[in-house]
Amino acid sequence: MKDQRGVDASSDNSQSLATYERALRAFNTYRGDPVAIIDEALETDPDFAMGHVLRGHVHLSMWERSVVPEIEKSVTKLNELNNRNNDRERRHAHALKQWLSGDWNGARGTLDHLLAEYPRDLLALQIGHLSDFYHGDRENLRGRVARAMPAWTRDDSGYAFLLGMHAFGLEECGSYAAAEEAGRHALDLEPDDCWAQHAVAHVMEMQARQSEGINFMEGRTEHWAQTDNGFQFHNWWHTALFNLDQDRFQRALEIYDEGVRPEPAGDPAHVARRRGSPVAHAPARFGRRQPLGRSRRPLREG
Ligand SMILES: [Fe+2]
Repeated sequence: MKDQRGVDASSDNSQSLATYERALRAFNTYRGDPVAIIDEALETDPDFAMGHVLRGHVHLSMWERSVVPEIEKSVTKLNELNNRNNDRERRHAHALKQWLSGDWNGARGTLDHLLAEYPRDLLALQIGHLSDFYHGDRENLRGRVARAMPAWTRDDSGYAFLLGMHAFGLEECGSYAAAEEAGRHALDLEPDDCWAQHAVAHVMEMQARQSEGINFMEGRTEHWAQTDNGFQFHNWWHTALFNLDQDRFQRALEIYDEGVRPEPAGDPAHVARRRGSPVAHAPARFGRRQPLGRSRRPLREG
């Protein structure tokens, strides 16, 4: 059968594929717990390969040692299913194995080659994009998504998320006007695309548009700061930076206490985990990392 973007899966279980789409959307929006959702499918359909692939990649997105046992479980199951899995599923399994072995660039390359064959694989695009982010590979943040775009149309399921990722890649490469256009287009199509929101916030940060940034972030909190949104910590952190740049120290501290680090004595990663979302863990860490730096000076197109 095919998924909602017409990509072949080895499964013939329509219910499992429907659950896969729900879990993928949770991953796309950084909301809820994609692992708990896909586990619903795996409980009744333990041989659902793309379920194991998604489960492995959601854990991989946290990019730390603690998730290794969970990814090993996914890889073990995918190895058992290898002969019945299709080419795309085997490539995903290979990328997960490479990641486990420490060959992170190899895993990124495998996902690139996979996407050359299957550019409408939204899961591969997102985990590849996040992997490029972790590596600070701005060229591929832009290029990976840009290469896939000709295979998509705006009516495709998940197109807005593709645009949101494209916006971030453009921004990291200094194409601020194009990034903002893509990000706002994504938000028109999918108002809850918090990654697109983040991409536009980056543009405003890089162009020293702090007042506009405050309005853009605080005026749209219902779309990116939902209680189950694992990326809100990072977007709140950007909002705090805008305030800090405007010497609004009190507001910046309020945001830190209430949004970036909502429990005074708690680790934000712990808070995210308590909310039950593995994917929330990684974006919670984003607030402490900024791969390409920031500047208080407005920047022009680069
Ligand atoms: Fe950011």
